[in-house]
Amino acid sequence: MSNLRLEIRNLSLRFGDRTAADSINLTLEAGQVTCLLGPSGCGKSTTLRIIAGVEPQDSGEIYIDGHLICDGTVTTAPEFRNIGMMFQDFSLFPHLNVWENVAFGLHGKKTSLRNRSESLLERVNLSGYGSKMPHELSGGEQQRVALARAVAPRPKIMLLDEPFSGLDDRLRDNIRDETLKILREDSTSVLMVTHSPSEAMKMADEIALMRNGKIVQKGAPYTIYNSPADCEAAAFFSDINIMTSNVEKSLIQTPFGEFFAPGHADGTRLDIVIRPQHLRIDFDRAGHGPAPTDAMGQAARATVSRARFLGQMSIIDFELEDNQILTASVPSVFLPKVGTRFWLLAPRKHCYVFPN
Ligand SMILES: Nc1ncnc2c1ncn2[C@@H]1O[C@H](COP(=O)(O)OP(=O)(O)OP(=O)(O)O)[C@@H](O)[C@H]1O
Ligand SMILES: [Mg+2]
Repeated sequence: MSNLRLEIRNLSLRFGDRTAADSINLTLEAGQVTCLLGPSGCGKSTTLRIIAGVEPQDSGEIYIDGHLICDGTVTTAPEFRNIGMMFQDFSLFPHLNVWENVAFGLHGKKTSLRNRSESLLERVNLSGYGSKMPHELSGGEQQRVALARAVAPRPKIMLLDEPFSGLDDRLRDNIRDETLKILREDSTSVLMVTHSPSEAMKMADEIALMRNGKIVQKGAPYTIYNSPADCEAAAFFSDINIMTSNVEKSLIQTPFGEFFAPGHADGTRLDIVIRPQHLRIDFDRAGHGPAPTDAMGQAARATVSRARFLGQMSIIDFELEDNQILTASVPSVFLPKVGTRFWLLAPRKHCYVFPN
């Protein structure tokens, strides 16, 4: 028997000619937080809805703690899956007070439900709110009640589908952090949907990057950021610079010297991708004298064509000698004048090469 909390195998679902979930494979260990990350319409909510049991899949299997939950013919009803959910359109029951909302999914005597409900409200910093009605609460307070309600039955798995997106930035960050803290304390496994790369990087043990119903890459935030699977995966996390070149004798020529391109036939067009924050500017030599040569590779002579100050960072466009423009971002203590010349370096370990 598998010791995985959740295992999803080849999960697929079509809506007409649209494949919303396309052979999704995913696992969650106890206490693991995974973010499903991807653009609008890529199938994140669909995947969560299938796992929750509110949308049947066409094919594929779901296992919880090694037990088959559904395989397209056999299915376990949502209330027997031991999965908690907080979705974007979460709503409290308007005619029930806070205590009753929190205790809604629980069974037992009235006093023990009241006590359990109160202790959950304490955990979400809402002691003393039990007798209030939902309309008497702020948006953030309602979210906390929804969280208390979702964790009340002690689910093994919690599915979060951007439940905090209606809140303003700071409140959202606070409530999301509090929510994950509580879920981690309970060793609940969390599958969380977001279309924000920075949110995914902050929260997740593992990110599953989705596109057109498919998971295109899975990995820890560091890996997925620094070793993107393709150009689009790289571009999802930051702006990117793309230099294009044709393979000749297993080599491609770039402004930063030759790159080795093994396994690509001559004439193949390749993209060399580098993030703005990975370009290095040689401040000392300021474009004069001999080009710096070091472990980072060959330098390219570059002239500042635009410089923007953005507070934490400055964004600087450089024109290279072949007229292509590359954008670099640097800490904003530095803001050069347009027309200044520098040597620019593109560290090889930060250059990704993909088929064009
Ligand atoms: N019930 C449905 N009937 C028909 N098509 C659907 C249905 N639900 C979703 N879809 C389609 O499936 C695709 C995936 O939708 P889904 O809601 O999973 O996207 P998402 O990744 O959650 O997007 P968002 O970030 O905007 O919430 C979309 O093209 C959507 O239009
Ligand atoms: Mg969605």
